Amino acid sequence: MNVLITGASAGIGRELAYLHADQGHHLLLVGRNIEQLFETKHFVEQRGGSAIVLPYDIGQTVQIKALLRATEHTPVDVLINNAGFGLYGEFLETDLLREENMIDVNIRALTYLTKTFARRMKVQGSGRIIQIASTSSFHGGPFMSVYYATKAYVLSFSEALADELAPYNIQVTAVCPGATHTDFAATADLATSGLFKRPGIMDAKTTAQLSFTGYMKGKTLVIPGRSNAVYVFMTRLFSRRKLVQMTHQLQAPTQSF
Ligand SMILES: NC(=O)c1ccc[n+]([C@@H]2O[C@H](COP(=O)([O-])OP(=O)(O)OC[C@H]3O[C@@H](n4cnc5c(N)ncnc54)[C@H](OP(=O)(O)O)[C@@H]3O)[C@@H](O)[C@H]2O)c1
Repeated sequence: MNVLITGASAGIGRELAYLHADQGHHLLLVGRNIEQLFETKHFVEQRGGSAIVLPYDIGQTVQIKALLRATEHTPVDVLINNAGFGLYGEFLETDLLREENMIDVNIRALTYLTKTFARRMKVQGSGRIIQIASTSSFHGGPFMSVYYATKAYVLSFSEALADELAPYNIQVTAVCPGATHTDFAATADLATSGLFKRPGIMDAKTTAQLSFTGYMKGKTLVIPGRSNAVYVFMTRLFSRRKLVQMTHQLQAPTQSF
């Protein structure tokens, strides 16, 4: 089975690559950091899988097109749209270029890759598409407003596609992890937020394992971990306004570095 993972150079994507390697799968590892991609490949091979490194920046259309050309003759059975990042700070102050790039990676690239590989999977007769969304997908998030909005897109898009693509034997799963210790917090400038200072934050290995178990069962929605599942359930009990206020309290800058 051929499995393409974007963002396989670190964090949750790398751990998902290892879990597929345990099944003897062939991995197509996408990311920008070539050294780290080769490190993932090395451990994939140690665990009984095989891998190729595809060093592309999916924030750029020209590189998405190059990635699609490079995979033209490799039937991809599982597409995992994992690459993504956030940005923390007051919207009036944050860098628009970083937010544009976030929309390009979290939304634009994910949509582009999903359309192309879904078309290829239809011809192949089956396939599986895993979209890494977030518990942030369920409501607005002050101080990370663009990131939360990108993840709301991923969830909505995936739920619709799960329905549309089912007749073609293509399963679509939205995975919604909660806060997980990876490079995410550093990339998003989250040092002054209380978000990652709470107890009980998962490590990438656990998030990946719970995600993998869920999507291999063919579920449309996977929320890794009991506390995250309870959290998402609780979002149904509050008004959207109240959820935003609670998120404001949780994410407001603490000024403690
Ligand atoms: N950690 C959390 O708390 C959390 C919670 C919920 C959801 N998530 C989601 O989980 C996914 C994985 O994040 P993570 O926590 O594992 O963070 P991470 O450790 O920072 O990993 C992010 C991955 O995305 C790749 N990436 C970023 N921009 C890219 C680009 N332009 N082109 C190609 N690859 C790119 C990075 O690879 P390169 O740097 O090599 O390009 C890296 O492999 C993201 O979609 C994130 O939104 C994370």
